[in-house]
Amino acid sequence: MEFLSLANERRSVKKYDKDYKMTKEEIEKIIETAALSPSAWNLQQWHFLIVTEEDKKEQLKKDAWGQPKVSDASASIVVLGDLNAYQRADEVADDWIEKGYMPEEGKAGLVDTVHQFYQDDQIKRDEAIRGASLAAMTLMHAAKNMGYETCPMIGFDPEAIRKDFKVPDHLIPVMMITLGKGEAETRERGYRRGAKDIITYESFE
Ligand SMILES: Cc1cc2nc3c(=O)[nH]c(=O)nc-3n(C[C@H](O)[C@H](O)[C@H](O)COP(=O)(O)O)c2cc1C
Repeated sequence: MEFLSLANERRSVKKYDKDYKMTKEEIEKIIETAALSPSAWNLQQWHFLIVTEEDKKEQLKKDAWGQPKVSDASASIVVLGDLNAYQRADEVADDWIEKGYMPEEGKAGLVDTVHQFYQDDQIKRDEAIRGASLAAMTLMHAAKNMGYETCPMIGFDPEAIRKDFKVPDHLIPVMMITLGKGEAETRERGYRRGAKDIITYESFE
């Protein structure tokens, strides 16, 4: 789909065909497209908990304030941010060396720089949220491009999800996304603030 149409037609869809099952291949194609998102140092801070089994979707729905779309959608996805993504700095360095982007001798310096940068807990958390959020948006566009609907959600209890789905401590629930064959949203899109309200050129001075 041409990008402007895609961006215009993507809506946060609340109603899904409960009987429609997406294939694992389709879901993985969407995730692989989401993984094309950019990330600082290419650390790829995202991880996806994909829930498709009925009883698990019911549990997830309970953790998401009972929102029916969570169990109606083919899959409900918890987009997680990885606080430890910086620990993959050596993998990134190896890839860059293999591709000729940097010399072998640069590896130790790069790994050290990345580890230093991510010492701070606030930076770790900000980066996990930044990376996961970029992937979440790409995921929603990829789904729309394949004829599926999505709804991003923050209406959930992250600690309940952590406990019920045994999410390891280094992964933080950033956003939930419902995914499936949806009923096209017929309500007019909510207003958007215009360019003059959201742009400041050059400086706030
Ligand atoms: C971070 C985030 C959290 C959201 N949480 C919920 C939610 O918990 N439940 C819900 O029904 N919609 C949720 N939404 C959907 C928004 O209400 C919706 O995106 C917004 O009204 C714009 O609608 P549109 O995407 O159709 O243009 C959320 C959206 C975002 C980006």
